[in-house]
Amino acid sequence: MEKKKVFSGIQPSGALTIGNYIGALKNFASLQDEYDCFYCIVDLHAITVPQIPKDLRKRSLDVLALYIASGINPEKSTLFIQSHVPAHSELSWVLSTITYMGQLNRMTQYKEKTKKSEENLNAGLFTYPILMASDILLYQADFVPVGDDQKQHLELARDLADRFNNRYSETFKVPEGLINKFGARIMSLQNPETKMSKSDDDENAYILLLDDSDTIRRKIKRAVTDSEGVVAYRDEQPGLKNLLNIYSVFSNEDVESIVRKYDGIGYGMFKEDLAEVVVEGLKPIREKYYQLTSSKDYLEDVYKKGAEKASYFSGKTLRKVYKKVGFIQRA
Ligand code: AMP
Ligand code: TRP
Repeated sequence: MEKKKVFSGIQPSGALTIGNYIGALKNFASLQDEYDCFYCIVDLHAITVPQIPKDLRKRSLDVLALYIASGINPEKSTLFIQSHVPAHSELSWVLSTITYMGQLNRMTQYKEKTKKSEENLNAGLFTYPILMASDILLYQADFVPVGDDQKQHLELARDLADRFNNRYSETFKVPEGLINKFGARIMSLQNPETKMSKSDDDENAYILLLDDSDTIRRKIKRAVTDSEGVVAYRDEQPGLKNLLNIYSVFSNEDVESIVRKYDGIGYGMFKEDLAEVVVEGLKPIREKYYQLTSSKDYLEDVYKKGAEKASYFSGKTLRKVYKKVGFIQRA
């Protein structure tokens, strides 16, 4: 029996944070035995905000190295760079003709980004979710592991698949999200009301996967908590709740037993232990990453093979789509 398919992508638009790791990356490796997985470095998405070309090139390789460092095996899963597979842009155009302006207007991420960068209101920022839908639908993905912030985009992908299928006959698999119960939204360490993001101006707001151990300790020490002085997991203490989620993910302990452990002990000790748990958790990833970035030939071989495999699968879907909408088959 053919394995079900998984697709996900990460933008090479900045150094990855533990939010990306917990919400998405960490789960990718664990899916690769059961499913046929495609993990993409979505560089086409990244240029919807201004990028320095040389940095974008470096970061794209960084994301590839981090995929592998976090346990994804390129012999099992397909790792590739979005711009290497033209079918993504091509399907995106076709799907844009069945997407309503109103749907895109309602996208939270778009609304937030336009608030932030009013001087760069480009059309790509608006049509971005159509490209994401194309990524997913091209591979006939059954499941899409993402963080909570991508729910709305995923809903659009499902909607477009349905609409196309209804209009032109069954073509696309309608994908399901795989969103963790815990850690699907890791919050800023400085403002637990907002999402931890690699584009935050305050570097104390996030921990990067490649932060060194002392930086991690310092950032956790400075993390905003509250004046209750009691380690508890509740909405009224959002800073602490976030730190407990992080602790739980990195230690594989459930939140209740962590809370019990720090009963009657102040935040200082809790934060010190948390820092060590995170430092230990990230160390192997960082070490593997540095090993990989010094073997450029290996990385090139991985993304080359990945693009070939991805082109094969996505090409099949795109040819069906072109035929159904009435394009003459290429001679
Ligand atoms: P991006 O960096 O925007 O390409 O996001 C890559 C993946 O990380 C997506 O699946 C996001 O949902 C996930 N992600 C990003 N930030 C967070 C966060 N703070 N908490 C949980 N997941 C996140
Ligand atoms: N939009 C996603 C994000 O910002 C990245 C992404 C692009 C993606 N294409 C995708 C995620 C396809 C999952 C599937 O996080």
